[in-house]
Order: sequence, then structure tokens, then C-alpha cells
Amino acid sequence: MAELAGIVLAAGLGTRMKSSLPKVMHTVAGRPMVWYMTSLARRLTDSLVVVVVGHGGECVRAYLESERDTLTPFTTVVQSQQRGTGHAVRQARRVLMVNGTCRAKACLILNGDTPLLTEQTVRALIRHHRVKRAEVTVLTTILDRPSGYGRIVRDKKGHVLRIVEERDATPEEREIREVNVGTYIVNGEFLFRALAALTPANAQGELYLPDIIGIAVRQGRRVAAMATNDPLECLGVNTREQLACAEREFRRRIAARWMEAGVTLRDPATTYIDSDVHIGRDTILYPQVMLEGRTRIGEECVIRSHTRITDSIIGNRVAVQDSCVMNEAIIEDEVTIGPFAHLRPGSRLRVRSRVGNFVELKHTELGEGTKANHLSYLGDAIVGREVNIGAGTITCNFDGFRKDRTVIDDHVFVGSDSQLVAPVTIGRGALIAAGSTVTQDVPADALCISRAPQVIRPGAAARRRAARSRVAPSKSQEKPERKSLRRSRRATS
Ligand code: UD1
Ligand code: CA
Repeated sequence: MAELAGIVLAAGLGTRMKSSLPKVMHTVAGRPMVWYMTSLARRLTDSLVVVVVGHGGECVRAYLESERDTLTPFTTVVQSQQRGTGHAVRQARRVLMVNGTCRAKACLILNGDTPLLTEQTVRALIRHHRVKRAEVTVLTTILDRPSGYGRIVRDKKGHVLRIVEERDATPEEREIREVNVGTYIVNGEFLFRALAALTPANAQGELYLPDIIGIAVRQGRRVAAMATNDPLECLGVNTREQLACAEREFRRRIAARWMEAGVTLRDPATTYIDSDVHIGRDTILYPQVMLEGRTRIGEECVIRSHTRITDSIIGNRVAVQDSCVMNEAIIEDEVTIGPFAHLRPGSRLRVRSRVGNFVELKHTELGEGTKANHLSYLGDAIVGREVNIGAGTITCNFDGFRKDRTVIDDHVFVGSDSQLVAPVTIGRGALIAAGSTVTQDVPADALCISRAPQVIRPGAAARRRAARSRVAPSKSQEKPERKSLRRSRRATS
């Protein structure tokens, strides 16, 4: 028998979010809330985690499946009608109860909407449950404004009697500031028997999980409560405002973690780092930088303001100037990027290469030391080492039907404002004259010029100007009414 199983409640409607997305799929620091709760349950229990899905269950389940590598093992069960948190836990019965016995001595039950809850606190709760030899242990906290939470009702000696939801509470009970966080440890045998005894005799007509505390007390079972002193950690996200609050606190924690690890954040409050991002020592992040998804940044990099980097890998000593966007790009050591560069999926920049102002790359590799400094689009291209891509160069990779590749070998010089019409290959050391439209392969070391020859006509510009001034209308030829209008305006001014 396992010591501890985990149950994550993720089936609720999330009505207060006013969203078409299930509440637990709303993200905090780049991960849906359900990921944090499932991951927490997995780390704290013996490989026995049940996630209860319901409203929008297909979407939640598909997401969890896509994260199998980070969350395994877990099982999902469906709560097809949302009849309350107690009813939700009941759905885990078919996984956790075998021949009338629970597969775990105790169950850790987590609401799906408390993403700030830490492993440390829940470990303390598990210890508390064991030390107190309790049958039910509930996590509580003290709030100045407890509104929206279930209140912990204690007797005069301080023993927990029951939990009352705000809607069902008397005015006196509403004054209670100790609240239910929605995190419980419950002995397995008792849990499913107590759940069977729940009734919907409350304002919402639901089966409330917290009612098992009152049941335990009535049956003379040992009930314990552990209060945390960090109320923020206990935040339950029911509204978008609470979601933003969770996001802010998460961001603060993540920033603190990276500063502790040797990263400089010029302004932690405006630096957004997702929870799975990794950053090397002595990297400096300027204000308004967003590092998203599974981005990894090496050591001694400098990332300037207004830059967003998603799911990209960046080496050491890379300089990213202001206002760059990168998505699924791989950047090797000592590369310089931006300002205003756009690296789309499949971009790979080899050591010491450079991508400058208003350059867009897609599915393109730039070799070692290669430069594309100004105003270019390079798509589906493989560019060798020490190549110069002149300002305004464009790979014409799409003919309206399909995409084709451009291959540029080492040491090529592409003059400014050239168009390379794919599929096309430029041989090693070739020179493309500025303004060329290249439609055929260029052999190694060749010079390619493809533009109309320059024509000079001495004096032609001056003659054109003179001819123009002869045909321009003189004032005497103007229509009579325009003239009179001008006269009348002069008279009034
Ligand atoms: C719940 C507690 C309340 C506590 C608060 C802490 C109950 C009745 N009340 O209230 O005492 O102070 O959390 O944040 O439990 N869910 C299901 N199926 C359902 C209903 C809910 O899976 O039928 C899930 C939700 O997805 C959510 C969690 O259970 O993750 C809690 O539900 P929610 O409606 O947010 O409960 P609260 O009203 O916040
Ligand atoms: Ca809630």
C-alpha cells in the first residue's frame, strides 16, 4: 500500500473567470495552473496521482497528455457534472479503491487553482498530519479580508469543528479570519466513507469536500489544522484579478531565484521569466524583457529592453539589442542580434554571426562569422561561414505554391538589394553585384550581375525640368472664379 496518493481537483466551471477556457488551463508564468498542481502532487506522493477533469475536460486532458514527460505518472478521471468539490473527489474512487480498500494510507487533495502553494508548505502539512496522528488535516491561513473562502470554525478550546462556506455562514462566522486553503490530507479509508455521507444541504446545493471535517469531528476522529504564515501562497484563483495577482507573485519569486543564482535583473518588476526558463550566471537582463517557454540562456549574455524570447536556446556572451523577437531559435556563442530583429522557428545562428536591424529569419542557418546586418528576409536558406549578406537582401523562397531553398556557400559576398530566387545555390567565394535578381545557380568564385545596364544621357534631366515649367499653368490662365475667390479673401484679411 502506498503511503500517500494525490488528488487534484480540476473539473470546476470557473464561472467567475468568464472564459471559454477551463479555469485550470489559465496560465501563470507560462504554465497552466493544473500543471503546477499536478506536478506538486507528483513530487509529494508515491506515483499515484489522480486528476479530476470535467468542464472542458478534453482540453485539460490533452494538455496533461502532452506534458507526460514532466508529469508522469498520473491518471485522469472525469466528473461529468460539476456537483461540487466533494463530488469531484468521489470520482477518484474508481482508481484509488480496490476491493473496498484504499490503495494509499492517506490522500493529499489539492484544489486545482492554488498555483502559489509550495512543496515546502505541503511537506510541512504532511508532517503535521503524521505527528498529530490525525485522520484529516487541513491547511489554513489568516486573511485580513477572508471574503470568498470557507471559514474554519473552532470551539472555545481551539479545536476545529467544521468549515463553513461564506454563502452558508452566519454573520458571526463571516467575521472569522482563518480560512480553508483547499489543501487536505485525509486517511484513505475514512475519505471515501465520508464522501458517501455528504449531502447537498447548502446554499449552492453542492457536495462540499470541506464538510468531511464536520463529519470526522462528529465521529470523534482526530482532525488537525496547520496555519501558514504566508497568505499569498494560499491564494485561490477564481477571477482574472486573482490570476494577475498570482502571476505577479510568481514573477517575483522567479526573479528572486535568478538573482540568487547570479543573474542581473536591472528591473525585476518588469522582467517576465517563465517558470521553465534557465539563465546562466552574469547574464544581464534589461527592463521589459520576456523570456518564455523553455528558453535557455547562457552565461554573460546581455539582453536589452523590449525583447521577447520564446522556446529558444542561446549560448554564452550573446548580445541581444533592443526590441527583438525570437521563437524556437538556436543562437550559438558570441552572436550579436538586433535591434529590431525577428528570428522565427528554425533559425540557427552559428558562433560570432550577426543579425542586425530589421532582419527576419525563418528556417535559416547563418554560418560562423556571417553577417546580415540590415533590412533582410532570409527564409529556408543555408548560409555558410564568413558570408556578407548586403542590406535589403531577400530570399524569394515562395513561388505561390511551394517553398524552396537557397544555399549560399562560405565567403560569398551578396551585394545590397539583391533577390535570390529559390531554389538557387551560390558557390563558395562568389560575388553577387548589388541590385541583382539571381535566378540561376552561381558557380564558386564567379561574379554575378543581373540588372539592366546603366544608361547616362547628359543634360536630359535639365531639359525635362525646362519642358515641365513651360506646360505649368500661369496665373493669367487660371479660371476666373479662383481669381475672384483669392481677391475676396485678401479683402477680408
Ligand atoms: C473552495 C473551498 C473553500 C476554500 C477555497 C480555497 C469548497 C466547497 N470550498 O472554494 O472552502 O476556502 O476553495 O480556495 O470546496 N472543482 C471540481 N469539481 C466541482 C467543483 C470544483 O473539480 O464540481 C474544482 C475546481 O476546478 C477548483 C477546486 O475544485 O480547482 C475548487 O473549486 P472552487 O469552485 O474554486 O472552490 P471555491 O469556491 O474557491
Ligand atoms: Ca477557488
